[in-house]
Amino acid sequence: MLYSKPVTEIIKQRSSRRSYRDQPLDADIQKQLMEFLVKNNVGPFTSSVRFSLVAAQPGDSDTLKGLGTYGFIKGARAFIVGAVKPSEKNLEDYGYLMERIVLFATDLGLGTCWLGGTFNKSNFSKKIEAAEDELVPAVSPVGYTADKRSVTERLVRWGAGSKMRLPWENLFFQENFNTPLPTEAAGAYAVPLEMVRIGPSASNKQPWRIVKEPGKPVFHFYLQRSKGYEQSGEKFHMADLQRLDMGIAMCHFELSAKEMGLHGTWELNPPVALSLPERTKYIASWQGEW
Ligand SMILES: Cc1cc2nc3c(=O)[nH]c(=O)nc-3n(C[C@H](O)[C@H](O)[C@H](O)COP(=O)(O)O)c2cc1C
Repeated sequence: MLYSKPVTEIIKQRSSRRSYRDQPLDADIQKQLMEFLVKNNVGPFTSSVRFSLVAAQPGDSDTLKGLGTYGFIKGARAFIVGAVKPSEKNLEDYGYLMERIVLFATDLGLGTCWLGGTFNKSNFSKKIEAAEDELVPAVSPVGYTADKRSVTERLVRWGAGSKMRLPWENLFFQENFNTPLPTEAAGAYAVPLEMVRIGPSASNKQPWRIVKEPGKPVFHFYLQRSKGYEQSGEKFHMADLQRLDMGIAMCHFELSAKEMGLHGTWELNPPVALSLPERTKYIASWQGEW
């Protein structure tokens, strides 16, 4: 088992934390995190990602120098940083693998916060000694959280509507994009789908759309870009954050399905006759065993 508790509980427990206690991570916690990072390095589309824990030791004020988060994160004493080479599905893989780490840290009782925009990319890249062709798409602070969320943090959460999620009928469909998937028709897969729905996404845009094949445990995952995010990557010199969101959705779906004994694999198997709404792109299909 990957975690000490059911993953559905960990997914429900996680929320973005932006205020931390000024306290270095215990040596034992650092060790557990590092062991997890090393093993967790190949995504479902086979990209390799190398992750590193950048952590200040007691009395050390140099390690985190320059690792700016533009005032969004307060007091963090450690960050998870990863680098990945270019490939067609590298960002989906990065999202998937980094979310497994986020859930591992949550299980250890630590706070995290995905940062895809508000971090100083060049300094974090230097820290992990990223090669010319490697990208650092997102990072996360990891640490002991402050008891209360700060005023800035509460404002950021309010601005992104962080507690809100779209209803099922906007996200999950049967056979085509015009027919919402009733919970009963999802059967036992209602749980993995709900775990996708409550997951984190950049600016809480929730771009995941899933179409189930009738009568079969086959789920096609699509990315429906939010307006203004059509070329977010190139336009803002940022990674394409909505592709990271898709990897996160795949992670939540797969881990919770497997935990329920629902086995399957990721395949590239887009339904040919399906007409797609605007700004919608196929990502992958979950081929469940039955
Ligand atoms: C790929 C990705 C990038 C994100 N980038 C940032 C960021 O740059 N700064 C920030 O404060 N929050 C960022 N977030 C956090 C989201 O705003 C947050 O996940 C969302 O509002 C839902 O809230 P929750 O995580 O508390 O459930 C990011 C989340 C994801 C998944």
